[in-house]
Amino acid sequence: MVKLIDKQSHIYPILIGLMGSGKTSIGKLLSKELGVPFVDLDHYIVDKAGKTIPEIFAEQGEEGFREIEREALREVIGKPVVLSTGGGAVMREENRVLLEAHAPVIWLKSSLEFLAGRIDGDPNRPMIAGRDTLKTLQELAEIRYPYYTQCADYILHRGKMNKAASLQAVLEYLRQWQHEHAYD
Ligand code: S3P
Repeated sequence: MVKLIDKQSHIYPILIGLMGSGKTSIGKLLSKELGVPFVDLDHYIVDKAGKTIPEIFAEQGEEGFREIEREALREVIGKPVVLSTGGGAVMREENRVLLEAHAPVIWLKSSLEFLAGRIDGDPNRPMIAGRDTLKTLQELAEIRYPYYTQCADYILHRGKMNKAASLQAVLEYLRQWQHEHAYD
């Protein structure tokens, strides 16, 4: 199969979207394809804080986590990596400004029912702990979808696409993006 994009292509995509949308798994595949390192902002935060995400939420609340996330995003964004962000990274206006200033930002979008099925009962996701998963996602989507729309250069509607098909769709978009920005 012909590679869509050469390695060392100087494309550093940023993935956004709700919990369970595949940012980490697609991000890892993309990083291999593009030949650039992968950074998952949540993992970066866990390393930096020396605590798990549920521990941070338990000790400092959501606002404490958002503050660490804000700092982490500032440290990492713009680095030559494929970056996957946590679903709530768009909540701070300062973060949205940063995301809007970088490209290409890709929103991985799936139905809320599908996402709920993927994350239901996950103890590592404090946003849904002790709550109805689908209802919580609906509430988050109402607030966040306008923000994802604002920050995204491209929206991948995954529908029934598996990882491989999603990867190909993103690569196809990136090829087009690279072509359009060849002389930037
Ligand atoms: C959150 C999403 C999580 C993580 C934290 C908060 C959110 O990341 O940052 O639990 O507010 O949607 P993922 O989207 O990678 O699950």
